[in-house]
Parts: sequence; C-alpha cells; structure tokens
Amino acid sequence: MECRKIGVIGAGIMGSGIVQVCALAEREVVMVDVSEAAIDRGISSIGATLSRSVSKGRISEAARSAALARIRGTTSYADLADCDIVIEAATENEALKLAILKQVDAVLRPDAVIATNTSSISITRLASASKHPDRFIGMHFFNPVPVMALVELIRGLQTSDQTHGRARALAEIIGKSPISVKNSPGFAVNRILCPMINEAIFVLQEGLATAEEIDEGMKLGCGHPLGPLALADMIGLDTLLSVLETFYGGFNDPKYRPAPLLREMVDAGRFGRKSGQGFYRYS
Ligand SMILES: NC(=O)c1ccc[n+]([C@@H]2O[C@H](COP(=O)([O-])OP(=O)(O)OC[C@H]3O[C@@H](n4cnc5c(N)ncnc54)[C@H](O)[C@@H]3O)[C@@H](O)[C@H]2O)c1
Repeated sequence: MECRKIGVIGAGIMGSGIVQVCALAEREVVMVDVSEAAIDRGISSIGATLSRSVSKGRISEAARSAALARIRGTTSYADLADCDIVIEAATENEALKLAILKQVDAVLRPDAVIATNTSSISITRLASASKHPDRFIGMHFFNPVPVMALVELIRGLQTSDQTHGRARALAEIIGKSPISVKNSPGFAVNRILCPMINEAIFVLQEGLATAEEIDEGMKLGCGHPLGPLALADMIGLDTLLSVLETFYGGFNDPKYRPAPLLREMVDAGRFGRKSGQGFYRYS
C-alpha cells in the first residue's frame, strides 16, 4: 500500500525538512509539534526554503504554493489518525520519544507504519512503545533533508518485511536513496561521523588550532564540503551531545565520551545555528 498521507512529529530542523520533501512529492502532510509557535516557525522556514528554490529556478511558483497548501500544522496527535505513515522527528531524548510514540500508536490505523528519525537510539527499544512492533522502523534522514540524498532504513528485531518495503518505497518516491543498516547505536553513518566531529571538538579544546583552522584543514586536507565544527553547529550541539551519550552508554566504551567543551557549550545554551551561536555566530 502506497503512503499517500504522511504525519511528521516535530517541526524543528529535521521535521521541517521531511515535511518539505514529502509535500513537494505531492503527499498530504500533517505536521505535529507541541506549540503553535514551533509549527509557525517550521512552516515559515519551509516557505523561505521553497522561495529560495523558486528564485534559483529549481521549482515553479505554482509548485511552491501547491506544496505549502498540502501541509497542515497541528498540536493534536489525534489529527494523525488517517495517516499511512508517521515519521517521528522530535527532540533526541529516549523518554520523550517513547511517550510520543505511545500516544501516536494509540490513534493510528493498525496498518499504518510508524518510523523514527532518531540519530542514535535503538529502534527495537523505541518499537516497544507500539502494540505492533512489526510496523515500526527507523528512517534516518540527513541534514539538510531537501539536499541530502541518503536515508538509512533500520529494522528493529521485530520489523516486518512489509514495513521495510513500504518505508523503502516512500524514501524512493520522495527522491531519496535508501540503504539498509542493522540496529546498533548510531547505525552506520553517525557511528563514523559523530566521533570524528567529537575529536575535532577535543582538538579545539586542547588549543591545537582555532575553529576556523580546524574546519579549513578538514575541507582542504580531506575534501569535506563543510568543516566538522560548522557541521556540528548545523546538526545542533544538543542533538550531537545526545547522540554521543547514546554511543557512550550503548557501547560502554570510553572512546565515545563526549568532549567536555561540547557539554559546556550545551550548558551555556549555545546549540549552534538554531540558537544563533555555537562554534560560530549566526545572525
Ligand atoms: N539535526 C540533525 O542534523 C539531525 C540529523 C538526522 C536526524 N536527527 C534527529 O531528528 C530528530 C529531531 O532533530 P532536530 O535537529 O530536528 O531537532 P530540533 O531541536 O530542531 O527540533 C525538535 C522539535 O521537536 C519538537 N518536540 C519536542 N517535544 C515534542 C512532542 N512531545 N511532540 C511533538 N514535537 C515535540 C520541538 O518543539 C522541536 O520543534 C532527533 O531525533 C535527531 O536526533 C537530527
């Protein structure tokens, strides 16, 4: 069964991006967040991104208006009742996600798929919030969603072949290239990427080079399109810290310990781009 109506929980960096690509792919989308203000911010950021796409000639003005008309913002999980799939993209916190997923499971049709965009938390554990763990799957998008082609599909222990097939079909319909990865903290790509970013923060903390020099070094020396500290600011330092904590706890291995400077930045409310300051300042 094709996914025609899609629910997205969380109107932040990732939720907005997922809503945008689904709406552009001619899907009806219900976007849920805890406050009207968060929904308004999400919808206005989608509007601004789509306007940039129009001015660059990538989409027509008609496609922009049609995509925006397909998006409905709400603070009520009950509005997800007739969705074919719901993609959870709320804050990276296990207890919060379990609570959200329980509420969503209670309102969804029994044949609907529930996906989570978690960066690091066990899919099998999050699936325990559902009475139907066979219909639960990880769909891990990359930031910025409209630009990055990859989606990691992560099966929990009980995910069915049918659920995997439907998530794969949706990823392809919205123009993404899925890869299948086994359930393990951080899956495949973040398992490699996040320790590298953490090491860059240790290098900064030890005063070996400035943030600009570290980023320039990784761009010019390794061909990365964005330096690791600028990337950390884009991901969100609070999200990055949660991911590293999941690795540290999940593998019980000190090699994943978060850099103390990262923790201090989060304590100071410097979350990166989304708060206006991280390793760099943003206007
Ligand atoms: N930032 C990245 O680069 C990135 C990449 C891939 C995956 N992810 C994952 O995507 C998820 C979201 O990350 P983000 O960067 O968009 O975070 P964010 O902080 O930008 O947005 C999180 C949103 O969740 C909302 N929220 C919190 N509690 C909620 C609830 N009970 N119901 C509904 N909405 C609620 C918040 O109001 C906020 O709008 C996390 O699991 C994160 O690990 C992030």
